[in-house]
Amino acid sequence: MTQQQERIIALKKEKNAIILAHYYQIPEIQAIADFLGDSLALAQAAKNTDADVIVFCGVHFMAETAKILNPQKTVVLPNMGAGCSLADSADPAKFKKWKEENPDVVFITYINCSTEVKALSDIIVTSANAEKIVNSISKDKKICFAPDKNLGTFIANKYDREMTMWNGGCHVHLRFSEEDVIAKKAEYPDAMVLAHPECPQHILKYADFIGSTTGIINKAGEVDKKDFIILTEPGVFYPLETNNPDKRFIPVSAKNGSLNVCEHMKMITLDNLEEALVTLSPEIHLEEELRLAALKPLEKMLELSK
Ligand code: 13P
Ligand code: SF4
Repeated sequence: MTQQQERIIALKKEKNAIILAHYYQIPEIQAIADFLGDSLALAQAAKNTDADVIVFCGVHFMAETAKILNPQKTVVLPNMGAGCSLADSADPAKFKKWKEENPDVVFITYINCSTEVKALSDIIVTSANAEKIVNSISKDKKICFAPDKNLGTFIANKYDREMTMWNGGCHVHLRFSEEDVIAKKAEYPDAMVLAHPECPQHILKYADFIGSTTGIINKAGEVDKKDFIILTEPGVFYPLETNNPDKRFIPVSAKNGSLNVCEHMKMITLDNLEEALVTLSPEIHLEEELRLAALKPLEKMLELSK
């Protein structure tokens, strides 16, 4: 442990703060987080904490979700610039118009979206519960699914369910190189391919298992195999390798040949995390009426995820 990590741990005790971190964070942050998880587990942890301060090491929509669930707590995002291309692909005004054009339709929205879009949605889902929640909607109801077209298409195909899709996507999962998936499968013929559902269908067709980041990490631990080809952001290699020292985890590159990193997630650093704990800023603020509207579909999700 470095001196800076020790200072951060001391600061969070002093401020009665909890550090929630996503698996795409740098290893040095994952190592000192109080709670590490996928978007669903992080939302549940944010709801259940009795700390006064939540320092969110993830992206903006995740910290906003924590604030929607905890209006009385201080929620801090160490770098407000940490956005999400998928959340940005759903403009609230365009989403509102889409909703007005589709009355009597259930609007199911992936948690990777703004608070404004959440407030206009009927139910929020994450990659860990989207299949279960879509299947809980009676077949005679029409569904509009936003903003991730890839996750929506994966579910629609798997369950033969008709859904109208918003045309959004995550720039990281969209840029995996199909050529490199084929090359890695040839190089490691016994490897199991684990993929996140934000990958497009021409990449998902190579997957032996499709799930959330937690789903991928759990699957690699359970399966009696040595090699795993991983189709999600490489932050997951830290828990995968820490939990399974005898297994081998193989990344797939982006189309430009580089490691397929989410640059937004990597905007949180030990320096801005320490600074955030000293100053308890930058803080997430939400207008109360908007927060209450966004809370409804999020609570529905948490209820349906039990
Ligand atoms: P998870 O729900 O699997 O954590 O995914 C969140 C995300 O942003 C993936 O790109
Ligand atoms: Fe958003 Fe994609 Fe980064 Fe996940 S990996 S936070 S969906 S930009």
